[in-house]
Amino acid sequence: MEDLTPDPKTLDPIERASRDEIAALQLDRLKWSLKHAYENSPFYRQRFDDAGVHPDDLQSLSDLSKFPFTYKQDLRDNYPFGMFAVPREQLVRIHASSGTTGKPTVVGYTKNDIDNWADLIARSIRASGGRPGDICHVAYGYGLFTGGLGAHYGAERLGCTVVPISGGMTERQVTLIEDFKPRIIMVTPSYMLSIFDEYRRRGMDPRESSIQVGIFGAEPWTNQMRQEIEQVFDMHAVDIYGLSEIMGPGVANECVETKDGLHIWEDHFYPEIIDPETGEVLPDGEMGELVFTTLTKEGLPMVRYRTRDLTRLLPGTARSVRRMEKITGRSDDMIILRGVNVFPTQVEEQLLKIAALAPHFQIELNTGANRMDNMTVHCECLPDHADVYARENAAKELAHHIKSVVGVSSKIIVHDPEGVARSEGKAKRVVDNRPKER
Ligand code: DLL
Repeated sequence: MEDLTPDPKTLDPIERASRDEIAALQLDRLKWSLKHAYENSPFYRQRFDDAGVHPDDLQSLSDLSKFPFTYKQDLRDNYPFGMFAVPREQLVRIHASSGTTGKPTVVGYTKNDIDNWADLIARSIRASGGRPGDICHVAYGYGLFTGGLGAHYGAERLGCTVVPISGGMTERQVTLIEDFKPRIIMVTPSYMLSIFDEYRRRGMDPRESSIQVGIFGAEPWTNQMRQEIEQVFDMHAVDIYGLSEIMGPGVANECVETKDGLHIWEDHFYPEIIDPETGEVLPDGEMGELVFTTLTKEGLPMVRYRTRDLTRLLPGTARSVRRMEKITGRSDDMIILRGVNVFPTQVEEQLLKIAALAPHFQIELNTGANRMDNMTVHCECLPDHADVYARENAAKELAHHIKSVVGVSSKIIVHDPEGVARSEGKAKRVVDNRPKER
């Protein structure tokens, strides 16, 4: 694969600023953001007053720990527009997350917010190895989800030719990739695998495709999955992170030259890692829950938003801003099976070690007649490993790896090729059939 390190002259000044410069900018912006939230959002005024804090109490970055957290539930409780800090007429766009339970969470953007978002996605695409003039195939869903439109505006901002195909219709995805010859694709990693299946169905070699850079996010994926995708497509696979409550995609992005975790765009978002149980701030390097405070958002400022995503903060490498390690999973996706904590990414890691298996999987949880919980991993064999012996061996091998590395017993079902449910956006990795009330 080609070396795609961007020309340092094309970087934004903040990407090369000193730590002191970054901290000074953050402090200025944090003061503004807390004041803006307090003065313009009745929700925040109440929350700060209840906690006995005032924006003037922030004199240094570490003073932020005195301020209360914001939760997803706060957005639900203030549905739809109750948390905005500008009159509704000043919002130029609304997005919402579907939410599996209850009301969706609604977010809103002013013209400046959309403008900053486009800049940050442009920066993210450049960090991934994209350049002005590239054709960019956007297969994140368009609509209320932030993936499609977020990527779209940023790719235009960088100067790309955007193909706004959205998710789904996999055959057409491959036809247009072959006809338009994009250099960049932006899509969930699980849907990229479906695009790969379509290449195989047509008897075509995806290594021959024009794509050189894949910018994958919206769901957890492992370094093993990166290797798999890079190998089958002969392309760079780079991680993009974000969440609608904070902005959407482009809160953090990996650099193609290092692929060592995601650089957080710290000029717009202030990260903290906390102990999810006690709420205490943890030092850089320690694993915990990621919390963000927005520094420039006008429409929906967020103060200490609990993402539920688990990671740790690391010093900058290819850029001077700090990195976050690839997300292990969300605390709400963590499976507790007979007392052992299991993340779907741990199963993915083990599955990808087995040559006979395709990279698709789904975990099913049930409670047995003995009232003990059990885990079944549904996976599928590759077409040239579909005989009974290959499948039996693959199942035994996977059960063994999961037991010895993750620490739980599991039942493995190896389905026929394409036997595992596919998604066109975020993959549903866990089906939990255990009774809710226990
Ligand atoms: O998924 C925004 C996005 C779109 C990010 C496209 C990247 C690409 P939400 O639907 O609000 O927003 O979901 C946010 O998805 O809290 C994480 O749990 C998860 N997530 C997003 N990116 C990653 C990633 C979009 N790179 C939630 N790795 C977040 C792991 C991710 N998890």
